[in-house]
Amino acid sequence: MNTPETSTASHVADPLRTDAAPEAAAPPRDFPIQRGCPFAAPPEYDALRTHDPVARVTLPTKKEAWAVTRYDDVRELLSDPRVSADIRRPNFPALGEGEQEAGARFRPFIRTDAPEHTKYRRMLLPVFTVRRVRAMRPAVQARVDEILDAMLAAGGPADLVSAYANAVSTSVICELLGIPGENLEFFRDVTRISGSRNSTAEQVAEALGGLFGLLADLVGKRREEPRDDLISKLVTEQLVPGHVTMDQLLSTLGITINAGRETTTSMIALSTLLLLDQPELREELRRDPSLMPAAVDELLRVLSVADSIPLRVAAEDIDLSGRTIPADDGVIALLAGANHDPEQFDEPERVDFHRTDNHHVAFGYGVHQCIGQHLARLELEVALETLVRRVPTLRLAGDRDDVVVVKHDSATFGLEELKVTW
Ligand code: HEM
Repeated sequence: MNTPETSTASHVADPLRTDAAPEAAAPPRDFPIQRGCPFAAPPEYDALRTHDPVARVTLPTKKEAWAVTRYDDVRELLSDPRVSADIRRPNFPALGEGEQEAGARFRPFIRTDAPEHTKYRRMLLPVFTVRRVRAMRPAVQARVDEILDAMLAAGGPADLVSAYANAVSTSVICELLGIPGENLEFFRDVTRISGSRNSTAEQVAEALGGLFGLLADLVGKRREEPRDDLISKLVTEQLVPGHVTMDQLLSTLGITINAGRETTTSMIALSTLLLLDQPELREELRRDPSLMPAAVDELLRVLSVADSIPLRVAAEDIDLSGRTIPADDGVIALLAGANHDPEQFDEPERVDFHRTDNHHVAFGYGVHQCIGQHLARLELEVALETLVRRVPTLRLAGDRDDVVVVKHDSATFGLEELKVTW
């Protein structure tokens, strides 16, 4: 594992790196590529960035696609109007069959293009503004304290993923949407199944069907008696006047829950593990909580949990770093590749809460850039600050290999389990 001491990354531009056209395409390599250290991009990304920055890869579905690893290329690609996020395109580089089939059926707006995409994004944007999210801080703090009280009262050892990270991310999103008495494990299962590349289309459809059933029931209730929550707002402003159908509303609510829960859960759990591994960083945050916003952005960059979420198809031929991605080919913008590019970030493996100009792409880039990023930052700040302040004795509950379980089959990188005590 790379620690600041052992990191081999350099801020000096790699002399082997060239922007000239690669001589010949290397044979496709299998994708996804697993991480070695959970706090860094897979080590192979360094070689790809240097020698094969637009690389041919074979996906678990046996389809081929291109994988892009350089910071500048990732940003260029994600802001290029010639790329499409439409999951119905035959070469859309889904990492599992289930994701593609179910996605083509339910059409979550993250996997659509303008003008359809713009319509749903505009529908949600007012709820996620900085101002609206800032006003949520006291409520988020209260939920986080309640969840931590419950974890501490139950006594250690506890699984921090389910007892804290998943509980925080799920209850915040349920409160925003207006879902009462949230069943934490139910939501975790929905995301786990629908986000796993091993799930079949039937399994994904069944998991999403359960979620849509619960949401449809609530939509009916809020139609009768609106409240001050996101579901009521969308029912009153969009469904009732006929701007969206019931299916479209359910799909939009469903993707908001799925996109917001898993990523935030992963970030809280992995960040906690990193702070346990590097106690000097935890101590720095304990001594100076005002560092927390910068720390959260640095953790977002380093951990890049949504590494291979931005999946696209070239709608026309696209030239990038000396290669041409032919029209209709799938392409993946690797966020961990970009966020660990030494041309953009000095010593990218080093976790530095004082890093300046931290223009990471952990939330993506371009028209699909994460709509929930302000909320995500708020949740991370509150969850991590509260843990550092209230549980200074937090530690792993045994040997690392026994208490840390890494999740490898999911669209979002993260932990399945993190057993801690205090
Ligand atoms: C640390 C937490 C999070 C990370 C790392 C993250 C990451 C991302 C990334 C990389 C994208 C762009 C995907 C693409 O380009 O294809 C995205 C989009 C999205 N995220 Fe997040 N996200 C997080 C939290 C949230 C939260 C809390 C919510 C909502 C409550 C949310 C809702 C969404 C939605 C709806 C989209 C689709 C936007 C669009 O297509 O226009 N995310 N997220």
